[in-house]
Amino acid sequence: MTAEDTHSGEANDEFSINLDIHIPHSARMYDYYLGGVTNFPADREAAGRALAVFPFARAAARANRAFMHRSIRFLAQQGIDQFLDIGTGIPTSPNLHEVAQGVNPAARIVYADNDPIVLTHAEALLRSTPEGRTAYVQGDVRDPEKVLAGAREVLDFSRPIGLSMNALLHFIADKPDRTAADIAEAFKSQLPSGSSLAISHLTPDFAAAEAQRLEQVYRSSGTDLQARTLEEMAALFDGWELVEPGIVSTPRWRPNPDSDGDPVTDAEASCYGGVAFLR
Ligand SMILES: C[S@@+](CC[C@H](N)C(=O)[O-])C[C@H]1O[C@@H](n2cnc3c(N)ncnc32)[C@H](O)[C@@H]1O
Repeated sequence: MTAEDTHSGEANDEFSINLDIHIPHSARMYDYYLGGVTNFPADREAAGRALAVFPFARAAARANRAFMHRSIRFLAQQGIDQFLDIGTGIPTSPNLHEVAQGVNPAARIVYADNDPIVLTHAEALLRSTPEGRTAYVQGDVRDPEKVLAGAREVLDFSRPIGLSMNALLHFIADKPDRTAADIAEAFKSQLPSGSSLAISHLTPDFAAAEAQRLEQVYRSSGTDLQARTLEEMAALFDGWELVEPGIVSTPRWRPNPDSDGDPVTDAEASCYGGVAFLR
């Protein structure tokens, strides 16, 4: 089921909204790092604890967002004109569809997130160009079938699709019966050749102690968090062909000093980014 609009941007109120603002949530903590206003005292308290052990969280969030902008612009310039963005987050301009439709106004974008607060703000994600289309699926990446069913209502799965999972899969801890790589594989198996995958992901490789403490803060707030090494990140791209420069820290992925803002070090970013195509 999708909330969808091509012009006016009305969110679909068929969804039941169940916001528990007393429990910190990753989307709202991330919004706080980015300087947004869609967060509550419980989120700010947990974000404060995160910043105490991982003081670069704001720079990491900014570098991650800049990676999203550059990777989506690159993919749109390569001809990808339909995107499935999972773990979209609370709208923060420019949103993915604004970047993609800035290159190709006819681009179609399906957003998905499992936090109901993102749905309540979906209106900003649904302001498509008249030529293009945007839609929102309330769904969990651990339920690929549901997310894909929503995406199929808007995207043409016989043509290449740009799948993006930015700053998402580190919230999926590997379990004996299901790993993040299994989830990536479940989506890949449904995509046609020519499709692309863009991922950014927390890593311990540049600031191990801080990343480990960050994991502990999130877990103590009830959110799984698993930083992954370069090798573990590469496993998420199994079967995909990475484009240059491969998997690198987010600020090193095809940087654009004109739009990236203040420089961010590898340790401050503490996230890998990579983009690949399915041949
Ligand atoms: C750190 S934010 C990233 C937002 C955006 N992708 C970006 O990179 O700027 C992570 C988002 O993933 C969402 N998320 C976390 N676990 C999820 C899951 N299991 N399924 C779908 N979305 C999830 C959160 O609600 C949040 O909006």
